[in-house]
Amino acid sequence: MDKKFNVLIIGGGLAGMFIALNLPKEIKIAMVMKDTKDIANSELAQGGIAAELTKNDEALKKHIEDTLTAGSNINDLDATKTLVYEASENIEKLMEFGVEFDKDKEGHLLLAQEGGHRGRRILRAGGDATGREIMRALKKRIVEKENVTIFEETMATDLIIKDNKCIGATLIDKDNNMFDCIASRTVIATGGLGAVYKNSTNPKIATGDGIAMAYRANVECENLEFIQFHPTGFYTEEDGQKFLISEAVRGEGAQLKNVDGERFMGKYDKRMELAPRDIVSQSIYREMYDTWSDHVYLDITFESKEFLMERFPTIYNKILQYGIHMESDFIPVAPVEHFSCGGIKIDLNGKTNLENLYANGECACSGVHGANRLASNSLLECVVFGNRIAEDIKKSDLTIPNVEPKTHSVTHKMFSFHPIRSEIRDVMDKYVGIVRSEEGLEIAKKIIGRHFKNLSKTLVHSHYYYETLNMATTAMMIIEAAIKRKESVGCHYRVN
Ligand code: SIN
Repeated sequence: MDKKFNVLIIGGGLAGMFIALNLPKEIKIAMVMKDTKDIANSELAQGGIAAELTKNDEALKKHIEDTLTAGSNINDLDATKTLVYEASENIEKLMEFGVEFDKDKEGHLLLAQEGGHRGRRILRAGGDATGREIMRALKKRIVEKENVTIFEETMATDLIIKDNKCIGATLIDKDNNMFDCIASRTVIATGGLGAVYKNSTNPKIATGDGIAMAYRANVECENLEFIQFHPTGFYTEEDGQKFLISEAVRGEGAQLKNVDGERFMGKYDKRMELAPRDIVSQSIYREMYDTWSDHVYLDITFESKEFLMERFPTIYNKILQYGIHMESDFIPVAPVEHFSCGGIKIDLNGKTNLENLYANGECACSGVHGANRLASNSLLECVVFGNRIAEDIKKSDLTIPNVEPKTHSVTHKMFSFHPIRSEIRDVMDKYVGIVRSEEGLEIAKKIIGRHFKNLSKTLVHSHYYYETLNMATTAMMIIEAAIKRKESVGCHYRVN
């Protein structure tokens, strides 16, 4: 099997795929996917992709302002302008790649509204299956590309560095073969870190691998205290990956009600249910506390069954399995971990501070989200910065480093890391959730710090070990960033 490439992309979601599709066929690309190509976090995006498709400066300015307001103005202004101004050309590219956004009978794109947006500017597909449609179209293209080699069910464990430059990464596949993959340019696009929390919209494989790998290679990361909790995860008693009730449901007028049936957002923000996510999540948290409850309700019973089934087919059918009819029942919801606003620091071309290493998507921090991401800006960030990375790579000398890829021996002894993983999730939930205190963060640091230290000195070459080490590493990075940030801002809320 070939192990030398011009470009190595670690991650199989939109952030990685969009780069691969924007590179010419002469460039030899490896794509490393932790799962099969059928499973990526991007698939789960329901709401859509925010984009002003007009050249109207007022409308573009409003999207920039809404992004800054949601992010408490600690966003990077140049990155935010880039995100908004380059939206339309990248949406066109998605359409050229075969993505079919929803249109009305006259063929005009249908636009939705979500929290924090002043107006309807969100493109969607399949009603509430935007991520699924985007990934369907892109995957169809990618498997046709002869210059792209896909390593499925393979995980990157560490970056390979020579003369202060990144020259690839070490990989471990599902059969426990561990080997180096050498490349002129490497992109980390590994997605989220939700698996360090008890309840998250992310799949279980989102163990913060890219961020942890960057940390071990001394690559700069920032803003990790800003963990966004989605206000309306579908509430069930079991912990784990939570089904999302899209923000777009509130965009269509759904109201939040407490367990006593009272609408409550008016007490917290004049934008009511369409306030940015940090505010809505914190308000729900407060309401649950005051009513001694672990959930609230979303009420869209004023809409007809026909409308709901057409507008939200994925949500309608999923919660029906739990006996909930959207047209007549309140939907039980609670905030759940959803998105990391921080990550590996990148510049406007997606470059990190390590030569020849880029990052894109949720694991990266371009600065566009500030202290809290505006709804539906994440898919947009993947394509805008993904396109910029592809452009930068095209201009580079892609000579493959003259280094022979090594193979490594793996550890066959089985270790059970389950108790450590479970304690990480418990501690993060209890002390590093929506509301944080100095005392709680210090307790978390002590417990997670101990796991991190022990795991770091007991090197075990196995998939499960690296995931556990990465969970401890990212959890520790979040805690340390949260301790440093004394003030409450965006989705980082400190009581003391
Ligand atoms: C949603 O549909 O509410 C999620 C979309 C996003 O995270 O921006």
